[in-house]
Amino acid sequence: MTVKTMKAYILLGAPGAGKGTVAARLVGQEPLVHVSTGDMLREAVKEGRPVGLRAKAFMEKGELVPDDVILGIVRERIERDAGQKNYLFDGFPRTHEQARGLDDTLASFGARVNGVFLLSVPDAVLVDRLSGRRVCQGCGAVYHVRNMPPRIEGICDRCGGALVQRPDDREETVRNRLVVYRRQTEELIAYYRERGLLFEIDASGNPDVTVAGVRKRMAAV
Ligand code: AP5
Repeated sequence: MTVKTMKAYILLGAPGAGKGTVAARLVGQEPLVHVSTGDMLREAVKEGRPVGLRAKAFMEKGELVPDDVILGIVRERIERDAGQKNYLFDGFPRTHEQARGLDDTLASFGARVNGVFLLSVPDAVLVDRLSGRRVCQGCGAVYHVRNMPPRIEGICDRCGGALVQRPDDREETVRNRLVVYRRQTEELIAYYRERGLLFEIDASGNPDVTVAGVRKRMAAV
């Protein structure tokens, strides 16, 4: 693959819309590099890296981490293997500044955003998904106490690690994350719609149906 043919896709949607779940299934079916800024930040926090130390307080409150931090880690990630694979961004961009930064970074590699898939889910479902989410402390696998339970309660099927609640899935933080999403991230919907790049996908049902909908759109852009 030459840099010119490198493609970039974005999964957009509210906290709990299922971006991470859909991305994990997509990368098993398509040759994609999954770039989740949330996962990258959580890893940096866990390892005590400077980026993590700067991000931690924002994440705990459900606020967005500053754009310069995010654009720095994304650029670094793309530079690592630009031109070798296509990219699937999950949870990024979240602001106009980040969207413009992504356009510039991709342009420097002769690439652009090819498609933005907006996962639509009613608010009541979002809250239910976030409050029931459990994450493996070992490998990061994501479960839901009711919708996608592990075989043994509290234990990861994949690695046997302990399943815990993400600190930002506490009720008060969830409420703020949804407010922040409405205030800042929803503007991006207009940004991408105006460019003819936005495809809305109903993500309230079975995740395999959502994944099939995204793949169908991906093949067309
Ligand atoms: P991030 O990690 O990106 O969180 P988010 O966008 O709030 O999204 P989530 O990870 O909560 O949800 P998801 O859509 O991936 O849902 P999931 O698949 O897990 O960001 C966290 C924080 O980091 C931010 O608040 C901010 O501070 C910072 N940050 C990250 N990126 C940033 C950026 N670009 N700029 C600035 N700050 C940034 O599913 C949720 C649950 O539902 C799971 O339990 C799952 O099992 C279940 N589920 C999923 N799909 C289905 C389905 N179809 N049916 C039933 N259950 C389902």
